Amino acid sequence: MAHILGVPSPIACLAVIALFLWRYLIRTRRSRTKLPPGPPGLPIIGNLLDVPTKQLAAGYRKLSENYGDLVFLDAFGQPILVLGSHATAVDLLEKRSALYSDRLPTPMVELGGFEWVLTVLRYGPWWRRHRRAFHQFFNINAVAGYRALQRAHVGHFLCQLLKAPEGFSEHIRHLFGATISRIAYGREIKDENDEFVKLAEDSLAAFNVLLAPGKYLVELFPSLRYVPAWFPGAGFQREAKQAKAMLRDLVRVPWDDAVAAIMVQRDGTAPASMTATLLDQLSQLSGQEGVMEEKVARHTTLSSIQAFFLVMAGFPDAQKKAQAELDSVVGSKRLPDFSDQEALPYVSALIKECLRWHPVLPLAVPHRLVADDKYRGYLIPKGTLVIPNVWAFSRDHHVYPDPFDFKPERFLKAGKLDPNVLDPLEYVFGYGRRICPGRHFAEASLFLIVSSVLHTLCISPPVEGDGRPLVIRPEIRPSDGLISYPEPFDCVIKPRASWAEQMLLDS
Ligand code: HEM
Repeated sequence: MAHILGVPSPIACLAVIALFLWRYLIRTRRSRTKLPPGPPGLPIIGNLLDVPTKQLAAGYRKLSENYGDLVFLDAFGQPILVLGSHATAVDLLEKRSALYSDRLPTPMVELGGFEWVLTVLRYGPWWRRHRRAFHQFFNINAVAGYRALQRAHVGHFLCQLLKAPEGFSEHIRHLFGATISRIAYGREIKDENDEFVKLAEDSLAAFNVLLAPGKYLVELFPSLRYVPAWFPGAGFQREAKQAKAMLRDLVRVPWDDAVAAIMVQRDGTAPASMTATLLDQLSQLSGQEGVMEEKVARHTTLSSIQAFFLVMAGFPDAQKKAQAELDSVVGSKRLPDFSDQEALPYVSALIKECLRWHPVLPLAVPHRLVADDKYRGYLIPKGTLVIPNVWAFSRDHHVYPDPFDFKPERFLKAGKLDPNVLDPLEYVFGYGRRICPGRHFAEASLFLIVSSVLHTLCISPPVEGDGRPLVIRPEIRPSDGLISYPEPFDCVIKPRASWAEQMLLDS
């Protein structure tokens, strides 16, 4: 817990004692019914000390190893259910989606100004309305309409890699910023130092930190939200206030710019965008509110591509196999396209293995249960926070032998994708009614980027002083916060052959 408050007033003491008693009574009532297994816990604070605060996914996985694929924790009155297998996540979050699709209301959402972000909206009509607005731009058919744009941006990205390979991380960041900003606002981000990019990066960083489960005491004691920012230990108030101010600009500025551009180009020459469509539909609110989704979208896909560069530098054999397949299917006269995907099973398997090896949201986004439920004879109380430990699913050695090895072959049988192996696409995008609505767009982006990069470029580890390549053993430990990023790393990026270099220069 990051913030402990200083000397409390007598009223605060009484309130805390009343809360203890109330929670104790609830726990006593519950203990008469059979709850799922879990560590015993202490009086009053329950399992507060069992809830991991660092290396969350690994910590929850350890609990699942000890207690099974359903682990119940009571963190000072907040019931938590940790799901340790994909099967339990499907049973509860997918098959009983009507019950398990809420999000945990936390004061940090409101204090930080995130209350309109779809990812954290409570389940209900307001969420449904936003989800529908989002869906119209990212459903499977709408996504097909972005292909030309994606091709153009990926082409630009490859040229950037050719010209300044050492800046690959920046180019990846720019690629997603440019594509999504173009779709959302009709705005081309040409310059990698675009004025809004920094603001956007900072707001997302704040989102990632402020909403990391269990970070702030105010989540357990919501009344602490009234503590003034100057009070000793009330750092959460200052952090939240800063985030709120940033977000206000972030919501307003790109939207206002886009609307102004559309108004100037009333003759219809303004590029088609989410903003233009929403203006037509007079649903200004959804467009402005979509801005944070844009940032989340950008970063999840970006983190996957960063992980792809890391594993390619560390596993040259996988890279060579994918390139051999691309050579035989695509040849040396053109870049791969969406229509090649079916004929490229190894490349598809490699993308699946990247998603498995580095789940971008290791704990997905936890769901909340809206009414008491019974499962396998256990009571799961209303209000339980349900955490699907996606990272643990990806490391389940019953499903994936040698789960810590990078092996695209695990998804193949007789040269084809093997439908009997659990596809990471089944879990990395979450479950049920809250499943990631951007998954079709993300999948299409990943395919085009990975296949185009592998077809034209070679990624290898940096060389040592004596010219020998460094041996990289890529290892990704999920970082804390909602989104996990690989740690910064270097790699060497060169054209694969003269035809590839020429093709990029021509494009
Ligand atoms: C590799 C890329 C991506 C991954 C791994 C990913 C993963 C996820 C996950 C695990 C969730 C939570 C699902 C749940 O609660 O069960 C989620 C939610 C969400 N994602 Fe993605 N995502 C990716 C890309 C995108 C993109 C490209 C977009 C937008 C175009 C997007 C928009 C959203 C939104 C709006 C939500 C909140 C949905 C809700 O709460 O109803 N994501 N994503």
